[in-house]
Amino acid sequence: MSNRRSFLKRSGAALAGLSLAPLVKAQPVKKDPIPYKKGLVISTWWHGLAANDEAHKIIANGGTAVDAAEMGVRITEADATGQSVGVGGLPDRDGNVTLDACIMDSKGNAGSVCFLQDILHPVSVARKVMDDTPHVMLAGEGARRFALDNGFEKTKLLTPESEKAWKEWLKEKEYKPIINIENHDTIGLLSMDKAGDIAGACTTSGLAYKMHGRVGDSPIIGAGLFVDNEVGGATATGLGELVLRTLGSFLIVELMRQGASPQEACEEGVRRIAERNNVKDMQVGYLAVNKAGEVGAYAIHPGFNYALHRDGHNEMIDAKSML
Ligand code: GLY
Repeated sequence: MSNRRSFLKRSGAALAGLSLAPLVKAQPVKKDPIPYKKGLVISTWWHGLAANDEAHKIIANGGTAVDAAEMGVRITEADATGQSVGVGGLPDRDGNVTLDACIMDSKGNAGSVCFLQDILHPVSVARKVMDDTPHVMLAGEGARRFALDNGFEKTKLLTPESEKAWKEWLKEKEYKPIINIENHDTIGLLSMDKAGDIAGACTTSGLAYKMHGRVGDSPIIGAGLFVDNEVGGATATGLGELVLRTLGSFLIVELMRQGASPQEACEEGVRRIAERNNVKDMQVGYLAVNKAGEVGAYAIHPGFNYALHRDGHNEMIDAKSML
């Protein structure tokens, strides 16, 4: 018998005797049937209001959480006045707009693109990676080629306003994050449909004036976004490097699995960052939702806000913060 076949036989036998029961079981959450019936959408920053409206329209018409998440953040991606997501995003140091995005559905499927250029809707390319390929993530030129081959049009993403801001920045060439307006106010959106299924999407042009090739947390499954339909979902905004080092969204969902409320889990996610980093000039904000439709939001610094569409109202809410 070949080595490979004997290995497969051995591992099959081993698997047959293996218990797949989880070591940490999802804790039952208090059932609140109202959000299940009407759906719920939560997303980061002011641009979340318009994204929530679009996402909620889809849910109200009986659509799925994943369709709602994708269509919601597409509104932000297409808004050229926003300088941190999609078209109009501020470029890297060399003047290139490079985009990162990911999406997760309620079945645990995930798709992602990073360092993508010339394409208006990275979230939809991420969706296509999820739906139509055996992979989770495509990067750079490979992602761009995949998008063009699949009917996405080549689009100029650098607007005159963002080009002007970049040229101004070039005079000093100094990168100084400024809390809350540091030009990486990603949109992360979590949606719950009428069936109570949860999905999410996250999309950004990343840090303004970043090094060419830099990728942040937003397209990384578990960092910028994580959804486990048995438990809930979480998403992040802010300085991606801090979120990446703690795999923040995965951490928050796992804390909820162990019984933390979305608020407690977001607070612990921020605390983990703060205990290991000097966060004086750095912002991160988290959002989370659980299966009961309870939500949480927390940031390092004041100033992080989010849009919540629940019970027919879409409103901006200021998140609590650690400092
Ligand atoms: N959170 C977005 C980024 O750092 O790229």
